[in-house]
Amino acid sequence: MAGRSVVVGVGHYLPERIVPNSEFEETLDTTDEWIKSRSGIERRHFAAEDENTSDLATNAAEAALADAGLTADDIDAIVLATSTADLTFPSAATMVQARLGMTKGFAFDVQAVCAGFVFALSNANALIVSGQAKRVLVIGAETFSRIMDWSDRSTCVLFGDGAGALILELQDGAGTAQDRGILATDLNSDGRYKDLLYVDGGVSTQSTGHLRMQGNQVFRHAVEKLTKTAETALERAGLGNADVDWIVPHQANIRIIQGTAKKMGLPMENVVVTVQDHGNTSAASIPLALSVAKQRGQIKQDDLIVTEAIGGGLAWGSVVLRW
Ligand code: UT7
Repeated sequence: MAGRSVVVGVGHYLPERIVPNSEFEETLDTTDEWIKSRSGIERRHFAAEDENTSDLATNAAEAALADAGLTADDIDAIVLATSTADLTFPSAATMVQARLGMTKGFAFDVQAVCAGFVFALSNANALIVSGQAKRVLVIGAETFSRIMDWSDRSTCVLFGDGAGALILELQDGAGTAQDRGILATDLNSDGRYKDLLYVDGGVSTQSTGHLRMQGNQVFRHAVEKLTKTAETALERAGLGNADVDWIVPHQANIRIIQGTAKKMGLPMENVVVTVQDHGNTSAASIPLALSVAKQRGQIKQDDLIVTEAIGGGLAWGSVVLRW
């Protein structure tokens, strides 16, 4: 017997405003063709002025609760992955907790930029298997539109806003790779690569700052590190690449997604792709993709899923779970 963190609900929220690539042609020296061919992105959603990360997160959480047939009273903890919280403090997670009407348990944010959801899932799983919580709401929510430099064509066309949420529940498993739930995780970071992707401001430097990225340098690390972390987590679970039903990758660039699938020896038919519609939503991209994939009828119960993500830090990791 083994305690497993099983997904019992999933949901997402996207802000109403959809911005097609063509809109950037009006203000920047760029084209729809360049953005599409270099990144796979066709459109993204941007939050309204009065819409903040905790609003997006609350909407996604409510959708996940409805999907699970649960209420906030059934949740013991909220782990929210974001790099764009509404306020310096309190955490966006506690703001969501209040909005859901949840007056017990605990809530906190996790910050690992684009790898944030993988870090949040791994932490939520640790809370569950160590007996500290029975049901955890795990959210990825971002408003990266707030940290864009709108004059920098190499970054501002790539990112979008959104939120996704999962509910993990403690269930008994046999302790084998056939169990439902999280089977293995792998987390990594290497702070020597800070300058490849960072925001040039923050509380301690007394500014908000803008996202700065050496895109081609991040790209150089991405396929190799993502393949390695996915294969490490699969091996920890006692599984191999051929066992994977779905890769649900961080949605930053279609060429990174394709390169990683190819390196893992898996066809694109086994990959969930949403980057064309959402752009890069950082920590929100994986739960958004999981929720959309379920709606599309791609992911079904007992499917083996491997998620992988890399971003600022650099920080990267992977989670293997059976749906
Ligand atoms: O989620 C966090 C992790 N982040 C990522 O995974 C992002 C990883 N990187 C990427 O996705 C890609 O590197 C980009 C999409 C950012 C860029 O693609 P690339 O093929 O690596 O292009 P590049 O940066 O090498 O730039 C090629 C050219 C440059 O011009 P020169 O120097 O060759 O004359 C850029 O100035 O494309 C130019 N360029 C643009 N041209 C038109 C950069 N941005 C644009 C643009 N429109 N928006």
